[in-house]
Amino acid sequence: MADRLFIFDTTLRDGEQVPGCQLNSIEKIEVAKSLEGLGVDVIEAGFPVSSPGDFRSVVEISKAVTWPVICALTRAVEKDIDAAAQALEHARRKRIHTGIGTSDYHIRHKFASNREEILQRAVACVKYARRYVEDVEFYAEDAGRTDNEYLARVIEAVIQAGATVVNIPDTTGYCLPAQYGEKIRYLLENVKGIHRAVISTHCHNDLGMATANTVEGVMNGARQVEVTINGIGERAGNTSLEEVAMIFKSHRDAGIETNINSQKIYGISRMVSGLMNMPVQPNKAIVGRNAFAHSSGIHQDGVLKNRESYEIIDPKDVGVDDSAILLTARSGRAALKHRLQALGIDLEQDKLDKVYEEFLKLADRKKDINDDDVMMLAGRDKTAMQRIRLEYLQVTSGVGLKPVASICLNISGERFEAAASGNGPVDAAIRAVKSIIHRTMTIQEFLIQAIDKGSDDVGKVHMQVEYDNNTYYGFAANTDIIAASAEAFIDAINKFVK
Ligand code: KIV
Ligand code: ZN
Repeated sequence: MADRLFIFDTTLRDGEQVPGCQLNSIEKIEVAKSLEGLGVDVIEAGFPVSSPGDFRSVVEISKAVTWPVICALTRAVEKDIDAAAQALEHARRKRIHTGIGTSDYHIRHKFASNREEILQRAVACVKYARRYVEDVEFYAEDAGRTDNEYLARVIEAVIQAGATVVNIPDTTGYCLPAQYGEKIRYLLENVKGIHRAVISTHCHNDLGMATANTVEGVMNGARQVEVTINGIGERAGNTSLEEVAMIFKSHRDAGIETNINSQKIYGISRMVSGLMNMPVQPNKAIVGRNAFAHSSGIHQDGVLKNRESYEIIDPKDVGVDDSAILLTARSGRAALKHRLQALGIDLEQDKLDKVYEEFLKLADRKKDINDDDVMMLAGRDKTAMQRIRLEYLQVTSGVGLKPVASICLNISGERFEAAASGNGPVDAAIRAVKSIIHRTMTIQEFLIQAIDKGSDDVGKVHMQVEYDNNTYYGFAANTDIIAASAEAFIDAINKFVK
């Protein structure tokens, strides 16, 4: 019989730490519910003490999700653990994830401490968390660079103190797969009481080895993996959920099974990518847009004769519809609905009608409507719920002309018009918005990206706006990049103008 591998998803904690990827509570609940549908065992919902927003999200996710364990992160600090316990109050199954750095780099430089003191703190935080919950996971931050003998002492002591799961993070993504596997085996063979706890992997991808290290960890005895959708996460990211799930599904001889419903993988991948404004690289394993695309004649011929000639996974197994339906201006609502559902978006009829209208307008301007366009169209409908909306924008600019923008904003149903000039059309549009919203705001970052290619393409704008010493992120997509810039600015403003 195969061994059960627990999937611990940290998209909403480690994944969400990426600048510009922050989600609001409603979006986090949407992702958490989809993770539940996907079959993950544990959802790390946030780091409650870090901000009131994170605290609220853990509370709301705890209420919204039924089956998976809800986990909250803390440092080895009592007030963090108090906050985590409070945020988890409504969770049906709860876990506190607490820990401390154990490598000499962390001990000396981060804590200016010594090994004995850190060991005491590790034990103390686990004991303190056990006063609140029965399920306590301990992380030994930078375990990848921690000497195995000392790591084993710490792990033994925290299990003795009541840890039910012991997390061995390769925080800097430094380990080679064989080294990481050896570390897990060393703990299994040298820690007294190790069988009372589950060993967890948590690998970062700095050297592109996160998945390989995770798999080696499992092959050497780990039975929980910490992963994110699309491998998102700080720097080069975390181990990607879809890769680990499909590796063990494809290699049944490894004797490992998960609870993941693989057919939901593609939908949730697109959903997370869209909500976090984080494109998936086209050649990303499992979920990249080229993952099942065959362009060379020899491959096409081989796949047409027998799919397995060049494909080890049936695209349908991960929710990719291989009989891809092309969306054009002649497509009907049914085709659009089908595509949206494949992307994990279920719209009610009236919303679908609105998105379809926008779809037809876009299809008139753009030959190929791809998944990103469809996501953008579905997401765009969200602007209808926003307090401040752009009603119209007209810009005149050109060689020898001073750019001027005329704008109309709808604020809670009331219309405000203004005009402004600037040193370029985007500057004029932003100034016009500012002349209506009288707040001191600074644009700190402004990024324009083409979604696909070609002059008919949709441009995506990411904006980082500072207001009242806080940073807010705005996003918009439009075939008109000046409109997209104004909409991204308004999107950010909507996050602090309540
Ligand atoms: O990478 C890491 O070490 C972490 C811990 C906080 C679990 O994310
Ligand atoms: Zn991490």
